[in-house]
Amino acid sequence: MNLRRRQFLQTIAGAALGTTLAPLMSTIGFAKPSARIKEFQFTASATQVQLGEGPDFEAWTYNGQVPGPEIRVQEGDIIRVTLKNDLADATTIHWHGIPLQNPMDGVPGITQPAVKPGETFVYEFEARPAGSFLYHSHAGYQLDQGLYGPLVIEPSRAEQAYDQEFTLVLEDWVLRDGGGTASVQRRPPMGGMHGRMHRGPAFGPADGPLWEPVYDGYAINGRVNGAIDGLLVRKGDRIKIRLINACSATVFFLRLAGHSLTITHADGNPIRPVETDVVRIGMGERYDVMFTADNPGNWLLAAYDSGLGEGRLQIPVLYRDVRREEPQTPAFHRNLRMADYGEFQALHPTDYRGGEADRIFNQPLSGGMHSSAWGINGQVYPYADPLMVKKGERVRLRYSNHSMMPHPMHLHGHFFRVINRSLPPEQWVQKDTLILDHMQRFDVEFMADNPGRWFHHCHNLYHMEAGMANVVVYENFSNSMTF
Ligand code: C2O
Ligand code: CU
Repeated sequence: MNLRRRQFLQTIAGAALGTTLAPLMSTIGFAKPSARIKEFQFTASATQVQLGEGPDFEAWTYNGQVPGPEIRVQEGDIIRVTLKNDLADATTIHWHGIPLQNPMDGVPGITQPAVKPGETFVYEFEARPAGSFLYHSHAGYQLDQGLYGPLVIEPSRAEQAYDQEFTLVLEDWVLRDGGGTASVQRRPPMGGMHGRMHRGPAFGPADGPLWEPVYDGYAINGRVNGAIDGLLVRKGDRIKIRLINACSATVFFLRLAGHSLTITHADGNPIRPVETDVVRIGMGERYDVMFTADNPGNWLLAAYDSGLGEGRLQIPVLYRDVRREEPQTPAFHRNLRMADYGEFQALHPTDYRGGEADRIFNQPLSGGMHSSAWGINGQVYPYADPLMVKKGERVRLRYSNHSMMPHPMHLHGHFFRVINRSLPPEQWVQKDTLILDHMQRFDVEFMADNPGRWFHHCHNLYHMEAGMANVVVYENFSNSMTF
């Protein structure tokens, strides 16, 4: 089956079965009588796809498409997804960024047993807060094989008005060899190990974690450059774009030629608008940006080309009624503004008070170079000590990156606040994924208000699988599931 041609403005997920009023209580007890249950049916399977041009290859998909269907609901709805596993391997779905109940978090071996081939599993959770999210498999390298999709929760409180909205899922693919399936020949790990897929980190000479593949297909919403239709805008319109980085190992620096962008949301959370020329977005991060279509012409929204191929990510932004000429590529030079985390502040001040944290965990990041392992605080998952916390505590993670590579660190089940000494704590921005550059330090804090066992890891899939992870564990939390 070929990949279905998809519109950029995805309003209704192909998988939505319909909306029902729920007169009865939900099984996990938080559904208000008036809450609407939004049901989705996802089948994970191996599917022949084609990204608009280039070869057909086998990807692992939800409902036969990459990315998976957009889930779009209202804040406060109940999302119920029935996952059917038609893959040859066990799988799960993780709802990246949503602080839901622990048993629904979709991390095999930590929050649930993986869903075996032929089995089904029902995920159900409240859609809160509003914002741009993504979902993806959390089993092995399945994220890189195509098992991800966008999740949008529309706000119940009014936000900035806009005329048109686009959701752009950013993707990295291996086209040449077939795109991230088990049979793909990937760059073998150091020491001559074979690039064979395996489950979880292991460090035997024949079974090490995989090295990052060499990507040769950068795509937006399942279409590679040249096959992308482009965003059609009207002069004078306010345009909102939800940027969702679903890549396994690619950080993008994006610029729209002819326009500056205003960042309005970071990882779903509304921030004081920050105007910028360049948006940096790491794996697992989301930014909502806006621009005013006030410069008629044909332009490209494109990634900076560092010579590694990222420049091949680009999408035309076309004004209606403008003659179709080659869209203009944005220039990248050192005088451009690039918004950084230090400029972000919460749009709505919270009641966060700051002060001494109840617990501090040093989280130095290291690895690479002469080893195929990546670690946090000198430990390599699954041999890493859990970060033990108590409900009600304020917990600080103190990151410092001693390696050569950037690491987008992601915490499940919570938003953390990025500590910013030039702002009062109630204005600290909330995120769930934060890039640490080479030699960079950041402190973040989260309220331990969501009991469970929560994975915490680098969102470079290859670093995660090579051990750059640990688990935040609440004291006295017992998972009723046995597995
Ligand atoms: Cu998208 Cu464990 O993460
Ligand atoms: Cu990393």
